[in-house]
Amino acid sequence: MIIVNFKNYLESSNKNGIKLVKICEEVSKKFNVEIIACPNFIDIKEIVKKAKIKIFSQHIDPIEDFGAFTGSTVASYLKNIGVKGSLINHSEKPLKIKEIKKCVEICKKLNLTSVVLSSKINQIKKIVKFKPNYIAYEPKELIGGDISVSTAKPKIIKRAFEICRKENIKLLVGAGIKNGQDVKKSRIFGAKGILVSSGVVKAKNPKVTLEDFARNIKIKGLFVGRFQPLHLGHVYAINQAFDLFDEVIVGIGSSQYSNEPRNPFSAKTREKMIKAVFKNRENLKIVKIPDFNNDEIWTNYCLKSFDFDVVFTGSKHVIKCFEGKKEIIKPLILKPRNIYRGTFIRKLMKENDEKWKELVPKEIIGLF
Ligand code: G3P
Repeated sequence: MIIVNFKNYLESSNKNGIKLVKICEEVSKKFNVEIIACPNFIDIKEIVKKAKIKIFSQHIDPIEDFGAFTGSTVASYLKNIGVKGSLINHSEKPLKIKEIKKCVEICKKLNLTSVVLSSKINQIKKIVKFKPNYIAYEPKELIGGDISVSTAKPKIIKRAFEICRKENIKLLVGAGIKNGQDVKKSRIFGAKGILVSSGVVKAKNPKVTLEDFARNIKIKGLFVGRFQPLHLGHVYAINQAFDLFDEVIVGIGSSQYSNEPRNPFSAKTREKMIKAVFKNRENLKIVKIPDFNNDEIWTNYCLKSFDFDVVFTGSKHVIKCFEGKKEIIKPLILKPRNIYRGTFIRKLMKENDEKWKELVPKEIIGLF
């Protein structure tokens, strides 16, 4: 997702605003990427009428409904004219924490998408409790500048991502984003999308810039497992991968082995298991990864054979292989960890203990 905040720049006001929203529409369609525009308050009504993309407000006030509120922005009115969501607590229009809470509540009531911005981790920790749809991390000091949030604050983006995902809230990042690489880096550190203003509004050619963003916003994640057999712990992790990445590459490890205690199932059977569970996922790619009994050769094989941006793994061994070579995101683990384990499930199978069936997806029962 790309949110273009028009702010109150001359380049994005009045007729320029209409032009810019049309550019957003074209790029969104061409690259099949969601682009949302936030025009200024004077232009918003006209833009909503003309736009084919979603329009968000730049701000709302913590006000329930129409009434005697001079100079305020009333969410109900925005909703009535067709606005689909709002930024809340932009650092150029900050709110107190209680007001943020109220604004999120109002958005929920009106079925508007809430995007709460913050430049501080401590504040993000409080905001997640309000359960907005999105939290956007924007370091105030980088807004409007040439150093992007993804260049200057990778650690904080990763921290914000961890805080948000535990509460099932999607993270966005913004500030200083100027090119596709800034966008890609934001995504691989855990952000679901970005917010941009001057990088597009004041660009020499906003369309070319926005196209560069859209071209780089989709990322691919690699998840490696032996799947002996595919169990609910794997399914839990792979579903998270579908949430994080635009394409999920599932690598069947130790692919050459079968018919032995540690590797009873062939790669073909394991592939069948994965396909049976994720049959409706178009963005799934299954690949086979043999063992080489040498970590360096194994890692280079993966790097050369498959195109991916992030390694999605909790395995210490896999992390060690890719450290410094690829960005790594750890999946959240399905608990209790000790029962969602291939070793344990294979032991139950060997002992003819039917309990193994409770630990695997039902789609694989009867497949082998
Ligand atoms: O809301 C987005 C904005 O604050 C980022 O501004 O100019 O750094 O892209 P800019």
